[in-house]
Amino acid sequence: MKALAVATMNLAALLLCGCSDQQSALDPAGDQAARLLTLFQLMLWICGIAYLLLLLFLGWSFLRCRRTQEADDKAQSERRLESLLGVWIGLILVGLTLLILGSFLSDRSLGETADGQVLHIRVTGHQWWWRIEYRQPSGQWIETANEMHLPAGRSAVVELRSADVIHSFWVPNLAGKTDMIPGRSNSIVITPRTPGTYRGQCAEFCGVQHANMAFLVKVEAPATFGRWLAAQARPAGRASPSEARGYALVMGGSCSACHHIGGTPSAGRVGPDLTHFASRSTIAAGTVPLTHASLRGWILQPQGVKPGNAMPASDFSPQDAQAVARYLETLK
Ligand code: CUA
Repeated sequence: MKALAVATMNLAALLLCGCSDQQSALDPAGDQAARLLTLFQLMLWICGIAYLLLLLFLGWSFLRCRRTQEADDKAQSERRLESLLGVWIGLILVGLTLLILGSFLSDRSLGETADGQVLHIRVTGHQWWWRIEYRQPSGQWIETANEMHLPAGRSAVVELRSADVIHSFWVPNLAGKTDMIPGRSNSIVITPRTPGTYRGQCAEFCGVQHANMAFLVKVEAPATFGRWLAAQARPAGRASPSEARGYALVMGGSCSACHHIGGTPSAGRVGPDLTHFASRSTIAAGTVPLTHASLRGWILQPQGVKPGNAMPASDFSPQDAQAVARYLETLK
């Protein structure tokens, strides 16, 4: 009995958490998620009412068959049953027509963009992180990873690709999920309205670290977003003398073969771009918060918190890892 009570309480807590959160389709913060929620509510109401009617009808028929009936009475009730069946078929047709119309109109409206200049973004899924690129009006691309910023009130057309296997891009508070398929490009429109931080998650099983393939979307006022984008476009600042050791280790070691740091000789394209690494709030695609301890731990033992990822174990001593972390922390 106690176990049942605990389970019920857990379920209630889970349901309540799902209603308002930074990762919830029931708490829309943008046009596309709001339209999908309306469609969900329409489906819920129509299917809920149909289910309730069906149960009532079933209950009524159980009660009815218990009563013994005269032959005259039987003929009359059969006629009544026939007309009731006609009403039931009519209700089904109306319900299905509403569902088809609702889903057609929602689907059409998902591709609409808000008035004003559209932002072009390209997101590429990798096992298990996200490469995010913003197209500048000049045609140049600014690259970052695992943390997306969007201006509130402006539409972004997000082109979705994959570098390896099928992933699925999903930020429940902002839009529906769309697959990222190797060899082809899909696209979705996101028009965020409410500033805040939302969590995105890969929604297609893509390997052992599928669950640790998350990202954050920060929806900001347009001016804040403009400043962020301008900062991301700049190369990394020069390392000060106190970070010289860390800088030398990154440039001379295996880090630079895989990671790009703008304005330095580090020009790899295998792993996430680190030019403004310290401006993000997590490491390893949302796996752990970015702190000095988690960063040092990651550098020393990249297979520790996210086994199976592409970053090989380094031969850094704890002091070297500390110096590398110190340097990376300056990449704001
Ligand atoms: Cu990528 Cu699941």
